[in-house]
Amino acid sequence: MRGPADRYDTFTIILHWLIAVLILGLLALGFAMTRPGIDPVLQFSLFQWHKSFGMLALVLASVRLLYSLVRPSVSSSAGLSYLERRFAKAVHLLLATLAVLVPLAGWMVASVSPLEIPTFAFNLVVVPHLPVPKSDAAESWWTEAHALLAYFTLALVLLHSAAALHHHYRRRDDVLLRMLGRRSDPPKASVKE
Ligand code: HEM
Ligand code: HEM
Repeated sequence: MRGPADRYDTFTIILHWLIAVLILGLLALGFAMTRPGIDPVLQFSLFQWHKSFGMLALVLASVRLLYSLVRPSVSSSAGLSYLERRFAKAVHLLLATLAVLVPLAGWMVASVSPLEIPTFAFNLVVVPHLPVPKSDAAESWWTEAHALLAYFTLALVLLHSAAALHHHYRRRDDVLLRMLGRRSDPPKASVKE
């Protein structure tokens, strides 16, 4: 039996950065398109782009979550204490789950809205609404839930990115390099366990 791998496979790395770019872009777009006073025609178009890229994020994040169940496990970077390993794993699991829950909540907003505005994904296909009852109350609830989950994800991504930069520039270990596909060399600086 082989033990856990010491590096991420290419598929995991590609998925990670694609989803990261999508989520950061969707957070900015979501914030911009809901500002008061925005031109309604522009707003309609931005909503459609947001929903299109949001559905793409949902597909990719679901693939990542399923793939993480079957891919070979990856050992934590050398030099991390037991608590750091546990904390990093917990944050990664939470991020991977939120990357699915946030767009699902967005899909619920579109689905429960009595306005029944269709989602034209990339002007190619109409994404069906989920089979749920429609009401103004449900739309407000899911709008709030979608926004809260999205901004909580942003806070966690900021923490996650700060940790990655801290490892790279302060501790000078291979945590960020592994996610950039570099071979896992021995840590340049020894870190106390
Ligand atoms: C990872 C994916 C997504 C992220 C990070 C995201 C993020 C956001 C953010 C930050 C807002 C603005 C919240 C506010 O300030 O009020 C927003 C609004 C919205 N999102 Fe998403 N979203 C995602 C996916 C989706 C999907 C898949 C859909 C629908 C198919 C969707 C539909 C909407 C709608 C309709 C609004 C406007 C709600 C309102 O009327 O205020 N989103 N999103
Ligand atoms: C743009 C800023 C980001 C940076 C600099 C970054 C950096 C990293 C690094 C260095 C790792 C490897 C950690 C290790 O091996 O211990 C990692 C893993 C991970 N990151 Fe990020 N990340 C970013 C954005 C995101 C976003 C937006 C998400 C999802 C919402 C995310 C979810 C994950 C997950 C789930 C893992 C575990 C490996 C996997 O299953 O893909 N990251 N990230």
